[in-house]
Amino acid sequence: METIETIANIRERVQAWKREGLRVGFVPTMGNLHSGHLALVDAVREHSDRSMASIFVNPTQFGPGEDYESYPRTLEADRALLEQKGTDLVFAPPVEEIYPDGEPLTWVNVDQLDQHLCGASRPGHFRGVATVVAKLFNIVQPDLAAFGEKDYQQLAIIRRMVRDLCMPVEILGVPTMREADGLAVSSRNGYLSERERSLAPELYQHVQQARDAALAGERNYAHLCQRMSRALEERGFTVDYFEVVNADTLAPAGPDDQQLVIAAAAWLGKPRLIDNIAVEIVGT
Ligand code: PAF
Repeated sequence: METIETIANIRERVQAWKREGLRVGFVPTMGNLHSGHLALVDAVREHSDRSMASIFVNPTQFGPGEDYESYPRTLEADRALLEQKGTDLVFAPPVEEIYPDGEPLTWVNVDQLDQHLCGASRPGHFRGVATVVAKLFNIVQPDLAAFGEKDYQQLAIIRRMVRDLCMPVEILGVPTMREADGLAVSSRNGYLSERERSLAPELYQHVQQARDAALAGERNYAHLCQRMSRALEERGFTVDYFEVVNADTLAPAGPDDQQLVIAAAAWLGKPRLIDNIAVEIVGT
């Protein structure tokens, strides 16, 4: 499995595959790979002839005071995992290759969808994500790219960017990978202390409780979310948001909405954990 660092070389390799008529699947990552990423790798391998991943810790999606500098960089371990999974090629550019002039002047903003949930408390985060994913798509020109449903808002934003900008890339959403106790797998779980790790699955448990309440007919979502937030705070979480949103607009859901997402983000010690469940309300 080859690792390529430059835009010129990665383009050459991928274009050669495409000239042979091969379908190219792509998994963009920031490295520090875990089973959630490997599920994305499996998904693209299943749907393409050649698979590749990028490993790039993207500075423009980290806000001031976030963990850009300390974000784990584990290139050799990541390469070994990708190779075991049969990945054909890795793109691991240095930061100057992607941002040769420092901060770009051209940004991709996906309006409205970036206003809610994580976008409300991480201003600029999704602008950084959409911009780097657009750059990576322009560089690699994949036929297919996979993203995790755990980052539901990111997936929704990328789907919309691809549609709005007519990018010829099929986007595959891959279900959230969970530990045996339900905790969504995340690179940031490694920051949890032993005690925090034992509490962490309660975030998902509360999202499930909210889902069950909505399915049982509860429609006062603001009240439901307040209850869930309070219960999490009592357990030691610092809740950023706990919301029931419309699955398409990501705006707070009303009683008549049928496609919902229940999404939560909360700090537990150092890491900020996120989780979500999609819910379909039928026959009301
Ligand atoms: O989900 C991630 O790891 C990142 O946001 C992504 C999509 C690789 C862009 O940097």
